[in-house]
Amino acid sequence: MILLKAERRLEETLDFMYGYLTLRAYFFTLRTRLNESGIGFPNSSYAEMWMNAFGSVDKEKLLRNAFEFVSRECDASCIDLCDTFDRASYFALIHPNHPNITLGFVKDADLWNIWLSESPFSVAREVIAEILGLGQDSIKLVDLGCGSVSPAYYGSVMGSKGVYSGIDASHSMVRIAESKVRAERLDWVSVRRDNAETRLVAKRKYDAVICSSLLQYTSIQPVLRNAGELTDYDGVLVIFSELFRDVEPEKEKIMNLYYSLVPGFRSFPAISEILDCLDSMGVSYRYKAGRNILLVEFSGR
Ligand SMILES: C[S@@+](CC[C@H](N)C(=O)[O-])C[C@H]1O[C@@H](n2cnc3c(N)ncnc32)[C@H](O)[C@@H]1O
Repeated sequence: MILLKAERRLEETLDFMYGYLTLRAYFFTLRTRLNESGIGFPNSSYAEMWMNAFGSVDKEKLLRNAFEFVSRECDASCIDLCDTFDRASYFALIHPNHPNITLGFVKDADLWNIWLSESPFSVAREVIAEILGLGQDSIKLVDLGCGSVSPAYYGSVMGSKGVYSGIDASHSMVRIAESKVRAERLDWVSVRRDNAETRLVAKRKYDAVICSSLLQYTSIQPVLRNAGELTDYDGVLVIFSELFRDVEPEKEKIMNLYYSLVPGFRSFPAISEILDCLDSMGVSYRYKAGRNILLVEFSGR
């Protein structure tokens, strides 16, 4: 598969994110002395997760990789989100729902609105727009778990010949997205609150479905079923994930330590798991798998 330029940038920014989180994690273990057994924290299951992640790793190798990742030139604007993950991890040792953990899609939508404008999400959007050729032909697009930034972004890139429908479970995200769409007068863009895991009904057939940084918060099968039905099994599905756990298994433990602080997080998807789901649905499809992007072309069922 030929790597798009933007896709390479996406990989670099995600490597930076992982490297930066690894360094933060290292200092966290020093500060909390979590790797010394017998230190009790009120939220013992989160403390245990840390001990499992760091107990047996080769720290020197881990830090060498981390330094290499953070020293490359790339879009490092994810630092703000990473710092919030880091800060939240201390509070999570006290209580899993500590009020200073500010990572909820409903409660903290205003913060997510800032983070979603930055890397890696902003770069993922550029890759997806390029893959779908937005702005060239008219296209009907549905974005599952659209968040607050994507509707206005894709809406303006695709232009008034297209149709964009965003769906998100968080009413706060939907409200922010709607105000941006209104301010930019993007009449061909609509956003509604709904759950991508329940059966979605639509008035039209879509050409393409976007699933960007969603599948770690949902079961995979119902979302894929919706993607298939919304395109009448004759369209494309673009999936972006910060991590496909079968592609980069070495990143999973540290990414889980931090993403588990986001309410609703389950686990990062695996490409093999997504393909197994499609097979079990009896769908005909072709796919192209990159490191963080999976493109599925439906061709009936
Ligand atoms: C990390 S954000 C990604 C937003 C957007 N796709 C982007 O790339 O900028 C994840 C979004 O998925 C939404 N979400 C989580 N679970 C969902 C579900 N079951 N149905 C619809 N949206 C969901 C959240 O509210 C949040 O806005």
